[in-house]
Amino acid sequence: MNLHVYEDVQELSEAAAHLFVEEARKAIDESGRFAVALAGGSTPKRAYEMLAAEHGEPGDLDWSKVYAFFGDERAVPPDDEESNYRMARDALLSRVPIGGVFRMRGELDPAEAAALYEEELAAFFGGPPRFDLVLLGIGEDGHTASLFPHSSALDARGRWVVENPVEKLGTTRITLTAPAINTARKVALLVAGEGKAKALEEILEGDAGPHDYPAKLIRPSYGPDWFVDRKAAGLLSKPE
Ligand code: 6PG
Repeated sequence: MNLHVYEDVQELSEAAAHLFVEEARKAIDESGRFAVALAGGSTPKRAYEMLAAEHGEPGDLDWSKVYAFFGDERAVPPDDEESNYRMARDALLSRVPIGGVFRMRGELDPAEAAALYEEELAAFFGGPPRFDLVLLGIGEDGHTASLFPHSSALDARGRWVVENPVEKLGTTRITLTAPAINTARKVALLVAGEGKAKALEEILEGDAGPHDYPAKLIRPSYGPDWFVDRKAAGLLSKPE
């Protein structure tokens, strides 16, 4: 497990933006493109804004070879304030000359949107998805992407993207499955704030199962990178 503890969200965001650029340059050098699945929610927004502000100029990063995907989406249209796509578009994607953006179509029936996204992944990757980088967050309940505790998506087999009814939210989300995330070359979870401390402790040090804390399902071959701030790391037995 690669745990990186930062003083605050600003430092965490700088580190996440640096990771993005590093991994993008590496992937573009090695394969001619960089396929990244973006996290939703609020934590990654600052890092996206930094990428646009500090690395948006041609010559710094060849954005034309960057292809943005999403880890999950709410069942809302792209201009809805709840849309993960809208957040990423406004913070980053509309501000850089990006090679392509693959939006989960939250305006469609979630099952239809999930199947369509699987087709787009298969066409892009020529088979199973293998992202160069997946960015994720976690909720206070231990969810990640839209893999919520005790939800049907946790047991999805042979699927890369599924619709996932989330009872406590009274809605259905669209989400990458754990297998689609775990084939990534690198996975980074960005966690900030005291509200996430209990979940982070359970995920990293507790013995509860992945149905209680679905972020435990995120186990890429090398082990994900955790980018956390001190407040979120506050309950860890050895936060360094
Ligand atoms: C979403 C995200 C979700 C998010 C966590 C953390 O659609 O909300 O994909 O998994 O990463 O809920 O959200 P915050 O960053 O807002 O705390």
